Amino acid sequence: MNILTFAEHKRKHEKLVMVTCYDYTAARIVAQADIDMILVGDSAAMVMHGHDSTLPISTDEMAMHVRAVRRGAPKTFIVGDLPFLSYRRSQSETMDAVARLMRAGAEAVKLEGIAGNAEIIRHIVDSGVPVMGHIGLTPQSVNQLGGFRVQGVEADDRERLKREAVACQEAGCFALVLECVPETLAAEITSLLKIPTIGIGAGAETDGQVLVMHDLLGLNLDFKPKFVRRYLDGNKQWLDAFNQYASDVRSGEFPASEERYAG
Ligand code: KIV
Ligand code: NA
Repeated sequence: MNILTFAEHKRKHEKLVMVTCYDYTAARIVAQADIDMILVGDSAAMVMHGHDSTLPISTDEMAMHVRAVRRGAPKTFIVGDLPFLSYRRSQSETMDAVARLMRAGAEAVKLEGIAGNAEIIRHIVDSGVPVMGHIGLTPQSVNQLGGFRVQGVEADDRERLKREAVACQEAGCFALVLECVPETLAAEITSLLKIPTIGIGAGAETDGQVLVMHDLLGLNLDFKPKFVRRYLDGNKQWLDAFNQYASDVRSGEFPASEERYAG
């Protein structure tokens, strides 16, 4: 998989499948699955580190997650998220962050928004690094957006998001994440663009879908917006396993004779 095959998927109307991943063990399992690409998202700040937004995670921490995922999924296409403000200070600081994610094992980087970012996207792309765009609900702007909520509902926001999508393509993005927008808007943007769109909470008409691993596995019971589908009752299955272990230790059921070293 590479950026050319992703473009080909769009032309052939074959859906692209992306999931987030942050650690070695999970990456080993994703690598065995029929998944096209991994996003090492800055959602790591929330699902791996317990923060209530994506803002606190650093480039070094993101690079650490990328390295771990790369070890577990040596052949999978990995997109690394550039964290909050890491691409907003100067070209030199941006390129330092890009270099750290790429040297950690990413094949592309993702950044949020286009306002004020077109030039830096162009520079990153011209430096040989594919960039995935991300518009709609951009969680690094949660304070400016006034919360996590659907975007592009009002007519002027819809028009702005369409212009932003085209601007991402023109700046050189190879793909575009559309987060939490009405399905009709996502469909319009998808047909407007040559590059593939990857939706999350953006309906069924995008060229691909992405979900946060912990949401997909049902590991995160505090968070269930309508766009999340839980493919596993992960919280319950883990909890049952821990409780079974605790009860087996207390009853003497564990360790059994075959789980002991003789001698
Ligand atoms: O960090 C993340 O998980 C993301 C996806 C929700 C697109 O950016
Ligand atoms: Na992200």
